[in-house]
Amino acid sequence: MSAKRTIRTHTCGELRSSHLGQEINLTGWVAKRRDHGGVIFIDLRDRYGLTQIVFDPNINKDAHGGGEKLRGEYVIWARGKVRARPDGMKNSKMPTGDIEVAITELVILSEAKTPPFPIEDDTDAAETTRLKYRYLDLRRPILQKNLLTRHRMLSIVRNHLDEHGFCEVETPILYKSTPEGARDFIVPSRLNPGTFYALPQSPQTLKQLLMISGMDRYYQIARCFRDEDLRADRQPEFSQIDIETSFLDEEAFFPILESMMQKLWKQILGIEIKAPFPRMPYREAMDRFGSDKPDVRFGLELQDLSEIFAKSEFQVFKTALVKGSRGISGSVRGIVAPGSAEKYSRKDLDDLSAVATAYGAKGLLWIKVQPTGELQSPAAKFFTDTEKAELAAKFSLKPGDLVVIVADTKNKVVFDALGSVRLSMGAKLGLMPKLGEGAPAFLWVTRFPLLEFDDRDGRYYACHHPFTSPRPEFFEDFVAGRNMDKLEASAYDLVLNGVEVGGGSLRIFRSDVQAAMFKLLGLTTEEAREKFGFFIDALSYGTPPHGGLAFGVERLAAILCGVGPIRDVMAFPKTQKGTDLMSESPSRVMPDQLAELAISVNARVPIAE
Ligand code: AMO
Ligand code: AMP
Repeated sequence: MSAKRTIRTHTCGELRSSHLGQEINLTGWVAKRRDHGGVIFIDLRDRYGLTQIVFDPNINKDAHGGGEKLRGEYVIWARGKVRARPDGMKNSKMPTGDIEVAITELVILSEAKTPPFPIEDDTDAAETTRLKYRYLDLRRPILQKNLLTRHRMLSIVRNHLDEHGFCEVETPILYKSTPEGARDFIVPSRLNPGTFYALPQSPQTLKQLLMISGMDRYYQIARCFRDEDLRADRQPEFSQIDIETSFLDEEAFFPILESMMQKLWKQILGIEIKAPFPRMPYREAMDRFGSDKPDVRFGLELQDLSEIFAKSEFQVFKTALVKGSRGISGSVRGIVAPGSAEKYSRKDLDDLSAVATAYGAKGLLWIKVQPTGELQSPAAKFFTDTEKAELAAKFSLKPGDLVVIVADTKNKVVFDALGSVRLSMGAKLGLMPKLGEGAPAFLWVTRFPLLEFDDRDGRYYACHHPFTSPRPEFFEDFVAGRNMDKLEASAYDLVLNGVEVGGGSLRIFRSDVQAAMFKLLGLTTEEAREKFGFFIDALSYGTPPHGGLAFGVERLAAILCGVGPIRDVMAFPKTQKGTDLMSESPSRVMPDQLAELAISVNARVPIAE
């Protein structure tokens, strides 16, 4: 075979009526084959599209003979003449639908086994099969389009940050634990037996060290590793657009990020987005939406009913409103869905209740307003006339309305449960725009609490991470250890359509304050030294005020692509159990490899599917 006979003149997405009469070469995969009374039609596919090629014995007998041998997914080179499709055979849905190529020469470059599923956008193949044969799955045009969109997104981001003076710096993967709240993946060191690297959960300390180095503006498309329970929007290994800058506050920093989002939406989707983006304090987000990443595209807002039911005889409410050991009581909160009583059957209400209980609620109370104005509810008999009247006034209740209520001694449970119930209702009632539809709703959530008390461990945790600075007005209280539950952080998340696409903060830049933070989080001086000694030292050598943020690459790309699970914008994602079905990793290693690492494995647990 001459080298020339593998080379194309055009791609499969390129030919139009303007090419009529030209002799051209194409290469690609056989996508579809139809035999019409001796004439063979093939859709030839590559990354750029599909082109119909024709093998006609009257045009070239040899080529037609070759055409008869072609099967799905064969890789071919073909030469022929571009001609117009006959009227009635044109396909306006295909960019190349006006033409076809009459083939005069054919080379089969590769034969192919029958793939385990058809290579088409609409597939009902099990995801496990698709992941096992990911290289075939990735031939599907939709996944190729997603990867290309992700690539475009990152190239726009790189250009934008470059224009603003940000310098891309790569940081190590074999590193030390960085606290982002998940478990670390650890890697044993052969040269230092018994010791381990941790893969970075994010380059947090490294990017701050770069600020101390005077790099001023840093970014990186950074790989992060977190051993946590996986969900549709969480992978153990994912990427961040990781950014850090010195000498900027939120007012100067946010516009750089907002204009980056504007460029992405404009250049990828042709959509103009208004800036500055709205901001909402964390407290308000929780009170109104039961979530720190509210989907503000629809209503169904939460209302606090605790005052109305302060003297309730209903045991569930009564228990929730008793003050706990730290002087904080729970609450009773509800949502009204106007005119929706009819839309929820008993079964629907049970399903909704299951959403609430999945988030720790003990139940979900429903109330339907009858045509007579009477309240129908499993707890109706416990409500006094005053309570009913106040409830009706609070929610402006009308016949046909549905109210759902959660009460709990822990406000976190009330918010988590009702926040999720709200999303479920928004979807069922058609209030939430479908994936890829509607205008994007960006929102900064600000003024996060600095610390979170964990009842089980009886200690505080940093809400964002321990390098986050208290807001200036809370500095004194923080240093004095006062009003710990009320301290607010200079932390912010960027939320888009109810998805947390990015998070960041201004950082502590004084070593004594950083040491105080570690102490407050329960680290002894020795522990803090062992884990972060290098970092506290670094802070004491002249540190600029600095801050930053990281976007989740996959979450942003998924929204730009209009897809749900972030797996669909990753080339080689892992399953919910953290496995790679294609390469079958993680896998066991040879005993001598373990011996070299001074590791012995004592539990031979079966490997999960
Ligand atoms: P944070 O932990 O909020 O902040 O992460 C930033 C963003 O990364 C994305 N993300 C994930 N995406 C996919 N799978 C995961 N498991 C996953 N975890 C997080 C989210 C999130 O908003 N170092 C800080 C940033 C900073 O303070 O500058 C950090 O990592 O979109
Ligand atoms: P019970 O008293 O357990 O029969 O519950 C009466 C109703 O209250 C049922 O509809 C429960 O789903 C609901 N319910 C129970 N616990 C809660 C709770 N913590 N918050 C809201 N509703 C609840």
